[in-house]
Amino acid sequence: MRIIKTESYDAASRACANLIMAQIVTKPDCVLGLATGSTPIGTYENLVRMYKDGDISFAAVNSVNLDEYKGLSPENDQSYRYFMNDHLFSHVDIDIKKTNVPNGLEPDANKACEDYEEIIKKLGGIDLQLLGLGPNGHIGFNEPCDEFVKKTHCVDLTQSTIEANSRFFASMDEVPKQAYTMGIQTIMNARKVVLIATGKNKAETVKKAFFGPITPSVPASILQLHPDCTVVLDADAASLV
Ligand code: F6R
Repeated sequence: MRIIKTESYDAASRACANLIMAQIVTKPDCVLGLATGSTPIGTYENLVRMYKDGDISFAAVNSVNLDEYKGLSPENDQSYRYFMNDHLFSHVDIDIKKTNVPNGLEPDANKACEDYEEIIKKLGGIDLQLLGLGPNGHIGFNEPCDEFVKKTHCVDLTQSTIEANSRFFASMDEVPKQAYTMGIQTIMNARKVVLIATGKNKAETVKKAFFGPITPSVPASILQLHPDCTVVLDADAASLV
């Protein structure tokens, strides 16, 4: 595991985008695993800039996103598909047919999850998986629990997540209660992993996940066993390590 410590959120975002650019330059038809959340927004801004500067093309890139809320349509501005279109796909030359996000509108959870594993398999696996880090150590929607769940699966969102999300919806009924997420093995099978964590509120979790024991109670800790994992931090997130 490599740890890259940078000075600031902007520097971490540039470093992370550079790693993704290197992947695209060395293998233009690579499969990128992508993440949502607030942390990678700066990374996507840098990738858009690199594309506009003529440094990279996404024309041959395939993508698979980590997760999606069950029940949300791509048009819903809280869906992860909407987020990806908004922050990256609409601004670069990626072929939208080559972008994949778990199908939030598939009511049959087994089907949604098996279909997604099949998509990843057919693409030949993930070349580079980008991850954020949950304040509780989650990656994707793999929350702390007693054992690592391997494959893409459906998770029940915790009451605190449901309540936190309720501010984005007109009524409690509309707030998603479940999500589809890649499993730990799906993530670990990626040939490269790049995790970005920034901000003071991630410092304790960074220490636990990458310098503590490997345990499903801190899901990101499994990345210590990945053969090619790079963790990009800003000074705040790196402050305890
Ligand atoms: C996003 C995802 C989540 C986030 C994590 C950190 O697709 O799967 O695991 O990466 O919750 O979110 P932020 O970056 O908002 O702190």
